[in-house]
Amino acid sequence: MSKNIQSNHTDTLKFVHITDTHLLDQADEIFHSLNTKESLELVLSHSKTHYPDADFILFTGDISQTGSKESYILFESVIQQCDLPIYCVPGNHDNPELLQQVVPNSPNGSISIIKLGNFCLVLLNSWVEGQHHGMISEHSLQQLDVHLQNSQEQFNIIAIHHPPVPINSHWLDQIALQNQSDLLQTLNKHGRNTLLLFGHVHQEFDQQLDQLRLLATPSSCHQFKANSDHMAPSDTSQPAYRYISLNDIDSADASVDTEVHYIESYEPGH
Ligand SMILES: [Fe+2]
Repeated sequence: MSKNIQSNHTDTLKFVHITDTHLLDQADEIFHSLNTKESLELVLSHSKTHYPDADFILFTGDISQTGSKESYILFESVIQQCDLPIYCVPGNHDNPELLQQVVPNSPNGSISIIKLGNFCLVLLNSWVEGQHHGMISEHSLQQLDVHLQNSQEQFNIIAIHHPPVPINSHWLDQIALQNQSDLLQTLNKHGRNTLLLFGHVHQEFDQQLDQLRLLATPSSCHQFKANSDHMAPSDTSQPAYRYISLNDIDSADASVDTEVHYIESYEPGH
């Protein structure tokens, strides 16, 4: 169920959030006028330069566009150049089993719990075969409930691909997490400050819902227009990532500092 990694960190944690990389099968392939492997490498390079103190990198799904073995080999070749721990959850375009072969602590049938000092990173699988929407299994919700009950002294960071709340874009809300209320009820039941990170929406999102802080990060490739009923590209579509710093966390007082970076020097097609 879980893979525990010992950490020296106590009350601070810093990490990079990258999502929706949509890698194709070959390094030189183009996806909607953009090489997604190159845009991922740009994002990684930028984050390494600006945040050399990051403790790990979190990917929240749609690592692959095709779900093929070749696309995960490509992903592996990119992350092998990183000197930080990598954590992933699968998205609707992924193949959770193949992702797990590259990043073994990625969740599939069970949740994954990474213990990092006073923090816990909880990785959830919302993948549903053949569907763009997401769903968390009853088994995973029960595991999450037990974990939250048993981690009263730690600050939990939850990672999932699909949005657990509406984001005011009708077409994306139609393919969000289908059992949103089940997840929110499980999190709210324990009445603790919690950070939840998701992808899938290819745009920034930041909402405080009682004690739950919800953050979505734009894609490392293409972005979608916000507050749109239909699928439409963003006017300013640049590869992006988010940096997050958690400071002086205790059960009563959480400080979450975060910033989204767009790689403005990037020219699609070049
Ligand atoms: Fe997605």
